[in-house]
Amino acid sequence: MRTRALEGGGEKRVEEQHKKGKLTARERIDVLLDEGSFEEIGMFVQHRSNDFGLEKQKFLGDGVVTGHGRINGRPVAVFSQDFTIFGGSLSEAHAEKICRMMDLALKLGIPVIGLNDSGGARIQEGVVSLGGYADIFLRNTLASGVIPQLSAILGPCAGGAVYSPAITDFVFMVKGSSYMFVTGPNVVKTVTHEEVSFEDLGGAMTHATKSGVAHFAMENEVECLMAIRTLMGYIPSNNMDDPPFLDGGDDPERKDESLNSLVPENPNKPYDMRDVLTRVCDKGDFFEVHRHYAGNLLVGFARLGGMPVGIVANQPAVLAGVLDIDSSLKGARFVRFCDAFNIPLVVFEDVPGFLPGTEQEWGGIIKHGAKLLYAFCEATVPRLTVITRKAYGGAYDVMNSRHIRGDYNVAWPSAEIAVMGPKGAVEVIFKKEIAGSPDPEKALDQKVTEYREKFANPYVAAERGYIDEVIVPSETRPKLVRALRFLRNKVDANPKKKHGNLPL
Ligand code: HXC
Repeated sequence: MRTRALEGGGEKRVEEQHKKGKLTARERIDVLLDEGSFEEIGMFVQHRSNDFGLEKQKFLGDGVVTGHGRINGRPVAVFSQDFTIFGGSLSEAHAEKICRMMDLALKLGIPVIGLNDSGGARIQEGVVSLGGYADIFLRNTLASGVIPQLSAILGPCAGGAVYSPAITDFVFMVKGSSYMFVTGPNVVKTVTHEEVSFEDLGGAMTHATKSGVAHFAMENEVECLMAIRTLMGYIPSNNMDDPPFLDGGDDPERKDESLNSLVPENPNKPYDMRDVLTRVCDKGDFFEVHRHYAGNLLVGFARLGGMPVGIVANQPAVLAGVLDIDSSLKGARFVRFCDAFNIPLVVFEDVPGFLPGTEQEWGGIIKHGAKLLYAFCEATVPRLTVITRKAYGGAYDVMNSRHIRGDYNVAWPSAEIAVMGPKGAVEVIFKKEIAGSPDPEKALDQKVTEYREKFANPYVAAERGYIDEVIVPSETRPKLVRALRFLRNKVDANPKKKHGNLPL
């Protein structure tokens, strides 16, 4: 029976799977887990349906391989849908196998990794299959914030089936072979008369760039499974654990002189915040999440002195690092993940404010920006902020400021912390004076210089204690590592409540 189970849907269907450039369910597990660590559970499970001739078609395992294994020595629960059996479609028994792994993972406090490749609900089973999905959705929700849940989409994932990965913490897709949509191209054509391909409607790059549903769009399956292993290296097994410390041999006291000249003299000139991150973090490693989405804010994992941290950084090289709807959503979700799983937050700030315009206002920048604010406000993990340049207006408050429980807030000498940019500010407060002067342009310049000297620097904030220290950029890494060590045993809590009411 074991031999039969390992054959999946049979040689021909396995061949078809390979022809599409896809691995089988079991091959994927082999790539994902530490060699030889997989233990299968439920290998002989079969469906119980007698409709539409299903009683004559039975496959051991019923289209999903479930079990547990290890990633870098740490246990994980896995389910991997087998497209070679009924197109990986979800039957009652198939759903029960997934639920069993989720229940075990929750009791054990270990992550669940789902490898999705499925034609959706097993059509022959009808409502029983829908019930199976709902059972999974409930477990996804209850496990959220307790154990990490990661989803790889390695084939079709359509209809209501998309809502399980959507609830999980990170969604990985593969370019060219995976797609997700609530309704496929044919239904779209009937309803809206739009002609759209599978790839354009719900392919990896569509979800990585346009919708933000996918956090990662990988070139191929092996790269995708390897990326899951890398991500696992930064996160703990559950919400009671600490993230895994790993001393990579990078000196915590290492200074980088090139940081001192990285911010351009001209405040309107962009620079790449990634250059700051790679110079400060251990070995220059920054594992970026949502790389293709809302590039004006960078989020991802890194290590400082061996300690995993979640990085949130404005990116002056894209839209001047402004906060908009997409970047607020991106940042908020990442901050909440890190806070749920005890991963300290390190913020690099250079933000001119929120993006103006009807598109943003009508799109709800108020409620979406509030999500980022809310996420930082409620976070109780150690929270560090480095203001490299601009920290203007509401965005100053939002980006992990002292006032919303930032623990260690420092600024580079190039920081400008003010209600708004100098030009905009003087145009408001000296409007009449400038208009009435014989040379308005000169008067404006003079007032801008005055304002810049008085407010567009870090010293007023430092005088108030909003900024703990003005640091030399080259010493950013040692300062952050020391702060993280100091804050390691931080305990903070929010008032007791059923749950907050995040502005959705
Ligand atoms: C039963 C299914 C199936 C399904 C595919 N198969 N989907 N069997 N239930 N949902 C079977 C096919 O009959 C076929 O069996 C084998 O899997 C491979 O399918 P192909 O069509 O040959 O593969 P391909 O050409 O690659 O197309 C893949 C596909 C297509 C695009 C996914 O199969 C498809 O459109 N399937 C139906 C998708 C769908 O409408 N699902 C229900 C959505 S509603 P044989 O024996 O011929 O090899 C839903 C509700 C969930 O999911 C709600 C949750 C709240």
